[in-house]
Amino acid sequence: MFGAKADRCDIGVMVAMLLFMILSLNGVVSGADPIDTYCPSEFPLYSLNSSFHNNLKLVLRLLSSDNASKAGFYDTSIGQGPDKVYGQSLCRGDISNSTACKECIEKASRDIMNRCKSENAMIWYNLCQVRYSFQSFKVVAYTGKYPQQNNEEKKVSDPIRFREYLTYLMSNLSDEAAFNPDKNMFAAGEVDYPGNKTIYGLVQCIPDSQCSSCLTSAFTELTECCSDLEAGIILDRTCNIRFQLSQFFNASSAYRLIYPTSTGGKWKSWMIVLIMCGSVLVLALLIGLATACLRRKNDRERDEEISERTLLQELSTPKSVAVTEEGDLISSDELLFMTLAVIKAATDDFSDTNKLGQGGFGAVYKGVLPDGNEIAVKRLSRKSWQGMEELKNEVILIAKLQHKNLVRLLGCALEGDEKLLIYEFMSNKSLDQFIFDPEKRSKLDWKTYHGIISGIARGLLYLHEESRLKIIHRDLKPNNVLLDHELLAKISDFGMARIFSENQNAANTKRVVGTYGYMAPEYAMEGLFSVKSDVFSFGVIMLEIIIGKRNSGFYMTELAPTLLAYAWRLWNEGKELDFVDPMLLESCDASEIVRCVHIGLLCVQENPEHRPTMSNVVVLLGSESMVLPQPRQPPLSLGRVLRADPSTTTNPSVKEMIFSDILPR
Ligand SMILES: *[C@@H]1O[C@H](CO)[C@@H](O)[C@H](O)[C@H]1NC(C)=O
Ligand SMILES: *[C@@H]1O[C@H](CO)[C@@H](O)[C@H](O)[C@H]1NC(C)=O
Ligand SMILES: *[C@@H]1O[C@H](CO)[C@@H](O)[C@H](O)[C@H]1NC(C)=O
Ligand SMILES: *[C@@H]1O[C@H](CO)[C@@H](O)[C@H](O)[C@H]1NC(C)=O
Ligand SMILES: *[C@@H]1O[C@H](CO)[C@@H](O)[C@H](O)[C@H]1NC(C)=O
Ligand SMILES: *[C@@H]1O[C@H](CO)[C@@H](O)[C@H](O)[C@H]1NC(C)=O
Repeated sequence: MFGAKADRCDIGVMVAMLLFMILSLNGVVSGADPIDTYCPSEFPLYSLNSSFHNNLKLVLRLLSSDNASKAGFYDTSIGQGPDKVYGQSLCRGDISNSTACKECIEKASRDIMNRCKSENAMIWYNLCQVRYSFQSFKVVAYTGKYPQQNNEEKKVSDPIRFREYLTYLMSNLSDEAAFNPDKNMFAAGEVDYPGNKTIYGLVQCIPDSQCSSCLTSAFTELTECCSDLEAGIILDRTCNIRFQLSQFFNASSAYRLIYPTSTGGKWKSWMIVLIMCGSVLVLALLIGLATACLRRKNDRERDEEISERTLLQELSTPKSVAVTEEGDLISSDELLFMTLAVIKAATDDFSDTNKLGQGGFGAVYKGVLPDGNEIAVKRLSRKSWQGMEELKNEVILIAKLQHKNLVRLLGCALEGDEKLLIYEFMSNKSLDQFIFDPEKRSKLDWKTYHGIISGIARGLLYLHEESRLKIIHRDLKPNNVLLDHELLAKISDFGMARIFSENQNAANTKRVVGTYGYMAPEYAMEGLFSVKSDVFSFGVIMLEIIIGKRNSGFYMTELAPTLLAYAWRLWNEGKELDFVDPMLLESCDASEIVRCVHIGLLCVQENPEHRPTMSNVVVLLGSESMVLPQPRQPPLSLGRVLRADPSTTTNPSVKEMIFSDILPR
């Protein structure tokens, strides 16, 4: 049942986040002020006494009605055509007192009227949230505001272990909220944390939304912003996720989790990051399961068995796979099949000392093969919601790809319940560890960064044009770019990748998955993806490397609302050098880095047709003299809405034209 809902619901995209700092004395978060409001100025403002205004008042009155607060969630619309107003309200799942719910919504409705005059707005309170829009919520993908980050929250003393417990708690809550129909899209729980402390967590989705997808990206954001803090909250349009070290919800709706003590292995933060990235893959697995849940249990078991067998058959063409009695690895053209025994030996029977990280969905271990080669083993947990389809996607895809700028899947092992993916071990972790850490960042010079940028570009070019398949990665971000011992960049995590046929140029999906901050606008908002959406992500990464800040963490509200808007403004003012991290300027030729800002801006242009292809980019990066076209405007605000216009979506001839004008093919 859930799966059917998930399929037709709108896009769960990460939208708004902030750290939430208020710990009142009794541990209950004060409900007086909104946690945040979203009143994007780029939407048209409605005029007073207009029909829109009047419809809005009616909608808010409906949302504040007894019926709505009793239901907890209410979704309504009033009016016709351009004056139509859509509205939604949601009370927190642990509020059983409908009077309290009603009071919160009434207050939120008054507030949203007073604070916002745009035709699209949202407000979050501790106990409820209210939003309205001139268009269906299925169309609007972003609320698009990052509120000011509040840095007052205290840090925990033991961040690594804390994160481990937090991950454990939140994955369980997310799974429960998304997939347990009894939970009604809400879950709250607590887990004891060494040092006489307890972590309290809460997650909630709007009914009929793509819950697991939303929670997965929200959780990624939460990990990035707050997993070393004593409290954190991520507010999305369709879900929210928060934790504190004090009880802040109705205990009777919560349950207690016991952290499994046997898994106290050593942590490496990069692996945690890796797992976070892997969560996108897991998201796919989750959705796969949700669909499977629709079927009867027996059907499901039989089904999984069949697809597993199909996978094995597909992978084990007689030529490609063989395993000796001793369990030696037998190489094939495309993939190594390893036996469980070999992996067990390599990882010392998955010993805690070899554990690199633990996500809610499986652990990653370091291993050493008999020949001395180091490997990273992703052990997909038995219990987690595995979709064989997605596993298959990754295995088959990545096994067929071999390029020095792609992380290699060395093989896999599928025996009984065990599903293991074996990758080459990357000693320098992921790119985000370098570029967003001031200390590590300064260790590399511009030449190295340029090499990394070129490496990513070549890896993408291979995916898009040079491999046997045409592949769109769909989740390119610094966490998914790993660095080997020579700092060679390698793209990883193909869980979301899609194969295109030769002459297919774009595809549309209802399941927008990816990471906030890196998704091209046409993909985030309309689900339309193409090689150009990867180019957009690449451009964002390039600009992030140059400025040393995250697009998604760009809170410089005085400078510009987003990193892209900031880059664009400086570009227009002729102050490109101001965009460059001063540290980098010491080690580079200014004209070269300005050229890279220029190329980055070309990649993030709002209209996909204007963006270069990766082969253009590789040529441009390699040339110092080739004249670059003027960039056009990038999406300037996260909330900008592209109104779907089929005529602008895919026209291959236009795409070719834009760049063949200036570049030799
Ligand atoms: C809105 O309409 C009311 C009643 O029709 C009127 O009294 C008021 O002046 C109008 N306000 C504006 C700004 O037009
Ligand atoms: C509230 O719900 C009841 C029963 O479902 C219905 O009879 C009533 O008309 C509703 N009231 C409003 C204001 O919608
Ligand atoms: C419900 O909440 C209201 C206002 O918050 C309060 O006055 C009332 O006593 C509560 N009722 C119950 C049963 O807790
Ligand atoms: C933990 O807290 C309880 C009561 O709050 C206290 O009795 C106990 O001594 C504490 N233990 C430690 C190790 O701090
Ligand atoms: C907590 O939830 C229980 C069960 O839903 C309810 O009986 C109780 O009144 C709630 N307490 C508060 C403070 O809302
Ligand atoms: C979450 O934890 C509870 C309590 O330990 C357990 O009953 C439940 O099965 C867990 N859910 C998932 C999805 O792991």
